[in-house]
Amino acid sequence: MPRTTRLAICPGSFDPLTLGHVAIISRALSLFDRVLIAVSVNIRKQPLFTLDERALMIRESFPGETRIDVEQLTGLLAEWARTRGAVAIVKGLRAASDFEYELQMAQMNRHLNPALDTLFLPTEANISFVSSSLVKEVAALGGDVSALVPPHVHKALLARLAERRA
Ligand code: PNS
Repeated sequence: MPRTTRLAICPGSFDPLTLGHVAIISRALSLFDRVLIAVSVNIRKQPLFTLDERALMIRESFPGETRIDVEQLTGLLAEWARTRGAVAIVKGLRAASDFEYELQMAQMNRHLNPALDTLFLPTEANISFVSSSLVKEVAALGGDVSALVPPHVHKALLARLAERRA
């Protein structure tokens, strides 16, 4: 039976990508035909990496995966999703504390684009404590975050923090 390609968007700041993000993107790939990763500006946060750097780190985390695209998003997600023909936004939920803000964004995105749904995936319990903000904070204070991010991200993180200290 002919069917159209089902495209999902995984949006986020990805500053930097963690293994939590990698798991959610991988699960989105098993549910949808294609996944578009939207590396987004979050006006509430001051980034450590540029949008270009973050996008490159994501591409390098999925070598040879042809069903993933990585793009930068500087505008409104709901509008951008419409132009790409996406049917869903996929987001990971780590804890109940994530839910309130994520629900608000999901409802706002649906208000702006009624063709778009948001799918929340519960994160794996063993990495539910991982966030980009905490990874940056712990790494900046000398803690070991090597098990929480891909190896090339870990290298880039240590290099950027060393630059900042110099
Ligand atoms: O990883 P984050 O920082 O929690 O991701 C938040 C993000 C980037 C998904 C959110 O800030 C976003 O959607 N930004 C794009 C601009 C937009 O559409 N804002 C209105 C959201 S309802």
